[in-house]
Amino acid sequence: MDFKRSDFPKEFIFGAATSSYQIEGHKFGGAGKTHWDSFAATPGNVVRSETGDLACDHFHHYANDYILMKEAGFDAYRFSTSWARVLPEGRGAPNQEGLDFYDRLVDSMLENDLKPCATLYHWELPQPLADLGGWRNRDIAKWFADFAEVIMGRIGDRMYSVAPINEPWCVAWLSHFLGHHAPGMRDIRATARAMHHVLLAHGSAIQAMRGLGMSNLGGVFNLEWATPVDGSNVARAAAELYDGYYNRFFLGGVFKKAYPENVLIGLGPHMPENFEDDFDVIGTPLDWCGLNYYTRKIIAPNDGAWPSHEEVPGPLPKTQMDWEIYPEGLYKFLKRTQAEYTGDLPLLVTENGMANPDVLTDGRVNDESRIEYLNQHVAAAKQAMTEGVPLQGYMFWSLLDNYEWALGYEKRFGLVHVDFETLERTPKLSYEALKIALTS
Ligand code: FCB
Repeated sequence: MDFKRSDFPKEFIFGAATSSYQIEGHKFGGAGKTHWDSFAATPGNVVRSETGDLACDHFHHYANDYILMKEAGFDAYRFSTSWARVLPEGRGAPNQEGLDFYDRLVDSMLENDLKPCATLYHWELPQPLADLGGWRNRDIAKWFADFAEVIMGRIGDRMYSVAPINEPWCVAWLSHFLGHHAPGMRDIRATARAMHHVLLAHGSAIQAMRGLGMSNLGGVFNLEWATPVDGSNVARAAAELYDGYYNRFFLGGVFKKAYPENVLIGLGPHMPENFEDDFDVIGTPLDWCGLNYYTRKIIAPNDGAWPSHEEVPGPLPKTQMDWEIYPEGLYKFLKRTQAEYTGDLPLLVTENGMANPDVLTDGRVNDESRIEYLNQHVAAAKQAMTEGVPLQGYMFWSLLDNYEWALGYEKRFGLVHVDFETLERTPKLSYEALKIALTS
């Protein structure tokens, strides 16, 4: 790598991230059905109709996975807890096996000197709650706060940090407006409600965890830079609207207690009644703010229904996801988030990485392009730090190749290669390079 640990402040945290449904093996340990199982059961929603049933079988391999992390010199591990594993019905009686599992997981992290950084929800909503309207139902804020109490009542004493919800935009817009993720809806009213309720649930869970006496609580937002297709006013307005509902809606709700006007032009008529009354809960103070960053989009206006724009292909080199490689976006977001939303609050990069068509040959995976991608992005973050952004950590997505949602097992994001037949783990060249950077 072009960087090494000693280039960063002593207390700076390097970590790797995963999420429960993407790696655990959902069929083990008495977990309940999730809306991802239902979504994947409809042919055409997920590549080859794949599910998280087995995934990386982290359920049985976690101890070995944490040894790999320790050996690479990571300080922290960002993982998530499956709501349906802990509460198979979403509410009511907990699954003891599920609670015991997270208990073992956390102890094993600590044995390997990894700071446990939990996310309570990384997208696997229990199906019984989806049947009640899921994120469209205001009651989800209460259900979620109750889940927060149950799981943190068991492992909260050993957490380094906790964030309630991974990537509110994906939970709301991607899943209810674009229909690309579970529950696969395409409905503006459902979207408006999900956009608001996901933040109400976030704030309610923060309050519940404060009630348990917990600290170092934050939020994790995915940000995507929007570049107008040309210099026209309509193109600029289109990109600003994309920026509005993708980025500013969620940061605005949490850090300014307000939603962007340009987004409310479309969503306003569908928002829950008196939604403004919820901003005090939504804006419950946080201890840090996490940014997940991968790419930018080029936005062009069109004549379609609101939001009347589309993504067009850009000129930059792309990853296996077809995402342009644009490290400046990370620099710009770190600067902008500090300047406009978070001020002195610590920031973390909670996800960054790339998918690559990695091939295992003679026991090796030479993922030089991933090393290059990470170098460029870490350098962009370092530049922002040099200019005063209080960045305190950087987590790579992902430790392991895993279930990449609607794209199944095809897109490999791991620092460690996983053979999905044998479940064998093979550290890639990027892992070895990071190990040298972090341990020497
Ligand atoms: C993020 C998700 C993560 C993974 C990466 C590629 O949006 O948090 O689960 O899908 O993208």
